[in-house]
Amino acid sequence: MSDTIFVTGASGQLGQLVIKQLLARGVTHNRIIAGTRSPERLASLAATGIQVRKVDFENPQGLTDAFKGVGTVLIISTDALDGAGTRLKQHRNAVSSAVAAGVKRLAYTSMPNPGSSLLTFAPDHLETERAIKATGLPHVIFRNGWYQENLLRSLPAALKSGHWYSASEGGRTSYAAREEIAEAIAAALATSNSDSRIYTLTGSEALSNEEIARLARQATGKPLAVVHVTDEQLAASLKEAGVPDVFISVLVSIEAEVRAGNLSIVTDHLASLIGRSPKRLADYLQEAKASYTG
Ligand SMILES: NC(=O)c1ccc[n+]([C@@H]2O[C@H](COP(=O)([O-])OP(=O)(O)OC[C@H]3O[C@@H](n4cnc5c(N)ncnc54)[C@H](OP(=O)(O)O)[C@@H]3O)[C@@H](O)[C@H]2O)c1
Repeated sequence: MSDTIFVTGASGQLGQLVIKQLLARGVTHNRIIAGTRSPERLASLAATGIQVRKVDFENPQGLTDAFKGVGTVLIISTDALDGAGTRLKQHRNAVSSAVAAGVKRLAYTSMPNPGSSLLTFAPDHLETERAIKATGLPHVIFRNGWYQENLLRSLPAALKSGHWYSASEGGRTSYAAREEIAEAIAAALATSNSDSRIYTLTGSEALSNEEIARLARQATGKPLAVVHVTDEQLAASLKEAGVPDVFISVLVSIEAEVRAGNLSIVTDHLASLIGRSPKRLADYLQEAKASYTG
């Protein structure tokens, strides 16, 4: 497929990596369009010959104009986790605008098994997938597993105190590197195959927090013990730390999701798209040590 590939959310972490990986796959600059709410942040990308267009899912008219003449639109899910339906509304705007603009193929970054998930934001993904399927256009859904980089949020404080408070006892997570997820997305979008597909992009192993703590101890030489708490205890400590209620619900639902085994799914989709075994968490924790030790 030699049509253009439009990447929304292009100034975000995943968006930037997808564009980098499309270029690495030999997709030419004139086939890539970067969409962002903040074009000024992508001036250096524009200087390389990549078109940068302003895209805000809150503005359907501007979106339809931006998507005109485009082959594939990759809709990167937004970070609007306000619990008030904003993200789903944004994604629906993106889908209907892409259809109105006459794009040929849709792609979207979702999550594993959104239909049976306990995450507060899973319905956003499920309903966006449904909206995409209902268009009748060829589509590629990337159900992205948990980023290894998410651990950078919990490990610094845990290593400082030596205690990792967790309500996900008994659960496992198949973490994958964000950059390899981007590489897999680029590989799938760069092919000439226009069949509709769902990829579930996960790491090659599902690990418990105890196993992850062991890997972090090995990487850093610091003590770290997992302390199991209930959802209620976790919510109370987050509240005490000043976390807004809506994010407390999100964070507690992630623990419930892990506990239920919903993030332990392992597939070979990531490996087959990138053509090698995904980066193991042990290697990531070694490489990223400086980012999570104080
Ligand atoms: N699988 C996981 O572990 C995991 C973890 C965190 C997040 N996620 C999801 O994956 C997405 C990408 O991850 P990331 O690491 O790249 O997150 P990120 O760096 O926080 O990026 C957030 C993205 O949302 C876009 N966005 C926000 N509001 C928007 C709007 N009104 N219209 C269009 N785009 C909007 C931003 O685009 P611009 O700023 O360029 O407009 C940016 O690409 C996140 O947004 C989230 O849905 C997944």
